[in-house]
Amino acid sequence: MHTVTGTDLNEAARLLRAGETVAIPTETVYGLAANALDPASVLKIFKTKKRPEFDPLIVHIPSPEAVSLYADEFPEQARKLAEHFWPGPLTLILKKKSIIPDLVTSGLDTVGLRVPRHELTLELLRSLDFPLAAPSANPFGYVSPTTAAHVHDQFAGKIPYILDGGPCGVGIESTIVGFEDGACTVYRLGGLSIEAIEQVGGKVKVNVHVSSNPRAPGMLKSHYAPKIPLKFGNIQDLLKEYGNLNCGILCLNRNFEIKSHIHTVIELSPEGNLDEAARNVFAAMRSLEQSGVDVILADTFPESGLGIAINDRLRRAMA
Ligand code: TXA
Ligand code: MG
Repeated sequence: MHTVTGTDLNEAARLLRAGETVAIPTETVYGLAANALDPASVLKIFKTKKRPEFDPLIVHIPSPEAVSLYADEFPEQARKLAEHFWPGPLTLILKKKSIIPDLVTSGLDTVGLRVPRHELTLELLRSLDFPLAAPSANPFGYVSPTTAAHVHDQFAGKIPYILDGGPCGVGIESTIVGFEDGACTVYRLGGLSIEAIEQVGGKVKVNVHVSSNPRAPGMLKSHYAPKIPLKFGNIQDLLKEYGNLNCGILCLNRNFEIKSHIHTVIELSPEGNLDEAARNVFAAMRSLEQSGVDVILADTFPESGLGIAINDRLRRAMA
């Protein structure tokens, strides 16, 4: 199959209506999209990604008004978060309607819904009469793509079209929030910070511990991993242990001494801005992987704002 990269919304829509998969830009990461209401189309996503069918997909909708088409309930707490943060990096787990195929939700009675904040993809969604199921457009377990070129590197020859919307503005996946017994629970840390959610919705529970979590299989321990070893911790300690190797160093900014000059250093934000760091973290993992270093040493990021989600991704990349 020949893979075309472009900005042709009509072509993307035509392929999706014909039951094909198309890579789409969002503000978080690129997604591999298909008609969420058609199991045969959705199956192609699982096949292309080599994704196990027990890992449910997020369904992308054009506006909060579409929630009632696919979810049975839209609790007040969820409505409030949607009002504040959609379009944006927030996925809401809601009781599903039967129109959503079981394959999309891995047999769960809930569905993850989200309105992405990307003009091209919103326009695409508005032009279709079905929503788009879309996991991140990377092989299962590998680093998520934040540019059209990343998608092409992985899926050239396997999908017909990549809708190019430029580099992703947020850079890590959406924060996933569910509502159980009236409590608001975060299942996956992501591009919307806990602080931001709590300012609007009050105190939330965070339930994202690394072991296999049946509610959010995306939380499987080994995930987001590059193809070379990645060590995560205090950079000084890591350098003591691995400094004799050819290291790729990933840090917020360079506030430490490095003795060897052979190491490659990527500062994710010289100014120490955690949003900027999140935007660049996956691209940096890819570029270190390709640079020929033996091992990636990732420093611990400050535990605030998106630093919490960055640490989560690095911890999983190490597993
Ligand atoms: O930012 C994002 O969320 C990106 C873009 C493309 O929208 N998508 C994304 O999808 O990260 P994916 O497949 O890589 O992660 C989806 C995760 C699943 O692994 C699962 O943990 C969770 O969403 N999920 C989906 N439906 C769920 C449900 N009904 N209950 C609990 N978790 C669910
Ligand atoms: Mg993913």
